[in-house]
Amino acid sequence: MILGIETSCDDTCAALVTRAGEIRANSISSQGELHARFGGVVPEIASRHHLELTNAVIDAALLEGGAALDDVELIAVTQGPGLIGALLVGLSAAKALAAPRRLPLAPIDHLDGHVAASLLGPSPFAPPFLCLIASGGHTLLAHVEAPGRWRTIGRTLDDAAGEAFDKGARLLGLGYPGGPALERLAAQGDPEAFAFPIGAGVADLDFSFAGLKTSLLYRVRELGEAEAERRRADLAAGYQRAIVTALVTRVERALARTGLTRLAIGGGVAANGALRARVAELGLEVSVPPRELCTDNAAMIASAARFRPALAFPDYLALDAYASGERRPPNPADELGAART
Ligand code: KG4
Ligand code: ZN
Repeated sequence: MILGIETSCDDTCAALVTRAGEIRANSISSQGELHARFGGVVPEIASRHHLELTNAVIDAALLEGGAALDDVELIAVTQGPGLIGALLVGLSAAKALAAPRRLPLAPIDHLDGHVAASLLGPSPFAPPFLCLIASGGHTLLAHVEAPGRWRTIGRTLDDAAGEAFDKGARLLGLGYPGGPALERLAAQGDPEAFAFPIGAGVADLDFSFAGLKTSLLYRVRELGEAEAERRRADLAAGYQRAIVTALVTRVERALARTGLTRLAIGGGVAANGALRARVAELGLEVSVPPRELCTDNAAMIASAARFRPALAFPDYLALDAYASGERRPPNPADELGAART
């Protein structure tokens, strides 16, 4: 059994997954409400809560999976990218659990985890496939060649899609996290009422969402406070449609470019009903993991570890976390190196 630990942002997560990809437990403690009043995740508050919650969430996963620590043969933990203080809590917990038991430890890239979410469960999605990951911190298209072997073929040049949802929601006076709130409001609006940019000027398979948020800001200003308030649902619907169109347009382009015919989606934005509906219309074989596997979770981290070499004791004790993908240090356990960016 693999014990996965994920603390890269504001969710404290632990999971038990078998080598075959069966999820025995997937435990999550979300801090979302704690950060809501600040309108976003406050890194220091996130780290402190991870400190308080990590052991409890691991215990909860063991209880749910009917297992003891002695049943664990490998510990998988998110090494980055994410909030550095938050990551360090999970990484330290993983080392502290693994070292006394002389267990191996697999340091996992958070994005590798999102991609590996589709490889879980009773009917895992078999590569090759195109994978769209759209979350609060990342938006990318991955060409998945084999389990654990994929490369980025498109990425956002500025904001992530989830960030665009969150910032748009904030402009419309909705709470954090904005994605689900904006989706609910959009359901009552007319998506044709307002047109928003979809980053059409961005070449190839890359995304850009920064202009979208600015465009919403201008629309709200032009309308004036009272009218913007009255048309809030229409604004949300148009805004959501632009994000979904931007994502789906790149997916179509990437499918044509690579010749791939199957698609998996992941990341928090994959929970969005409008995106799910548009993706279904593509008429492809699509893997849409259940919501709890789309948003941050530790089952996906344990899943990724199935296809990565692990480090033996004591080699992992010196591992450090990394905040950004670009600053990712060479990982001695990673034979793929530059293949994963
Ligand atoms: O993958 P995730 O849980 O955490 C990151 O790694 O970022 O994604 C969180 C993001 C947030 O920006 C949130 O607003 C967005 O996913 N999100 C949604 C929905 N549910 C979560 N966006 C649109 N519609 C949703 N239903
Ligand atoms: Zn994520």
